[in-house]
Amino acid sequence: MNESLSISAEVTDKRTRYELLYPQLEALIDGEDDLIANLSNIVAALKYSMNFFWIGFYFVKGQDLTLGPFQGPVACSRIGFGKGVCGACWKREETIIVPDVDKFPGHIACSADSRSEIVTPVFKKGKVVLILDVDSEKLNNFDEVDKNYLEKIANLVAGKIA
Ligand code: SME
Repeated sequence: MNESLSISAEVTDKRTRYELLYPQLEALIDGEDDLIANLSNIVAALKYSMNFFWIGFYFVKGQDLTLGPFQGPVACSRIGFGKGVCGACWKREETIIVPDVDKFPGHIACSADSRSEIVTPVFKKGKVVLILDVDSEKLNNFDEVDKNYLEKIANLVAGKIA
C-alpha cells in the first residue's frame, strides 16, 4: 500500500478531486480486512483531500448510532434512531443533504461551527449498518456531486464488511 495520497492542490474542481481520490481510496484499503483500520484511513483521506470540517462514521448498534472513526472536532458519541440528521438518514435509508443545519428540525449540533451537512447510509444485505456523516462550516456546501461520490465510497466500504 502506498501511504501517501496524491492530488494536486491546483485541482480545485470538486468532481475532479473525487475522481482522482476514489482509486486511491480503493488502493488504500486493498488487502486490508480490518474494518476500523479501513474506516480510519478513509475518513483521513477524505478529510485532507476534500478539506472537510468534520467527517466520520457512526455504527448502527442496537437502538443507537455509536461514534466510529472520524476526523475533526470531538463529536456526539450516541445518536438515537430517527434523531438528528444521522438518525433520520438511518430511518429513511437514504442520503440526506442539509443546506442549512439551523433549518433541519432536530439537528444535533456537535459543533456550533457546522453550517451544512450530508449524511449517507452504508448498506449490508439491505440493512443500514453504518452512517457516513460530513459537516461543513459553510452554508450550502454539499450537492449531488458529493452525494454521488459519497454513495460510491459507501458502497466501497460495504464491500469490506464481512
Ligand atoms: N449533526 C449530526 C450529529 C453528528 S455531528 O454533526 C458530528 C446530526 O444531526 O445527526
